[in-house]
Amino acid sequence: MLKQLWPYSMLLILVFGLGSFFAITQHRPKDLTTNEIALNVEEIFAPQLKKHPDIVLVDPEMAPPEIRDEVMKGYRILIDTQKQAKEYAGDRLNCRNCHFQAGNTLGGKNGSISLVGVTYVYPRYSQRAGRDVSLVERINACFERSLNGKPLPVDGPKMKAILAYLNWISAPVKDRKEFPWLGLPKMTHDYKPNPDNGKKLYALHCAACHLDNGQGTKLPMEEQVLDIPPLWGDDSFNDGSGMSHIDKMAPFIWLNMPFMTPVLNEKESMDVGQYIINQPRPKFER
Ligand code: HEC
Ligand code: HEC
Repeated sequence: MLKQLWPYSMLLILVFGLGSFFAITQHRPKDLTTNEIALNVEEIFAPQLKKHPDIVLVDPEMAPPEIRDEVMKGYRILIDTQKQAKEYAGDRLNCRNCHFQAGNTLGGKNGSISLVGVTYVYPRYSQRAGRDVSLVERINACFERSLNGKPLPVDGPKMKAILAYLNWISAPVKDRKEFPWLGLPKMTHDYKPNPDNGKKLYALHCAACHLDNGQGTKLPMEEQVLDIPPLWGDDSFNDGSGMSHIDKMAPFIWLNMPFMTPVLNEKESMDVGQYIINQPRPKFER
């Protein structure tokens, strides 16, 4: 009896063994520790996905073998910029702190700032530059401002990997003409934000994670360690970044903060946003 079952059990061990091996390597790339993996907020931004039921986002792990290493390398740079591109980051932020899931979302509530489709909308006019900018220039603008760092060499391996990743996650929207999920929405601009009220709201809704001093911390949460990024001071985005302007900061908060449970209305988001913007931060050196 045992002898007869033996080949089957070997087969079972092989199938399950390989299956779990692939599951692990697929979802937990070997050189990333648990707290460096994108937090899985997929269920939370499901309502946004339902708005576009015809779009099926693709994981970086699903890329075909010819490009998978390159795509995964780019993905890792966005998730763990501090480790993967340290020499170009001047603060303590990672791309994913503002582009949740390394931008592989359709924006909206809890989807932060999507990057799905960016490879099809650039070159694009930039008000800041006063001319059309390429995607490479746009990526480097976030390195220089949001990460208060240095631009990546435009033809270097890191930039190539980021482009491969962005190309891959953009593939599902290749045939689209409109990309309404890109960019943060505009808010009630005739309201003058009140930073004093913002300070109170900050203590109530934000300080538990980002701390009173705005410097963030590491918080254990379920199996992961939630890495809370700094909002001001030497380790945060500089005053040339989009996030240091109320027209980006306020909608980001309105739709995404407190993390996973955004509860503030538009005016409150502007108040707390203005309070954060008023705090000291690095100057952007042109
Ligand atoms: C439960 C903890 C938690 C609370 C409460 C919270 N945040 Fe966050 N915040 C996070 C995490 C985690 C991230 C980064 C998410 C990621 O990397 O996926 C983040 C990112 C941010 C960012 C972008 C990155 C940066 O450092 O600038 C801003 C701005 C921000 N939060 C503002 C706020 C504001 C304003 C409030 C209060 C209304 C708030 N947060 C409340 C956890 C929290
Ligand atoms: C402190 C927050 C923050 C961080 C960190 C950050 N970004 Fe951004 N990023 C923004 C904001 C704000 C915008 C502008 C969104 C808009 O247009 O409404 C943006 C826009 C972009 C865009 C253009 C998107 C579009 O729709 O045109 C790209 C590409 C991009 N970022 C890449 C990156 C990369 C790569 C990193 C890491 C090196 C990074 N960002 C880090 C805040 C951030």
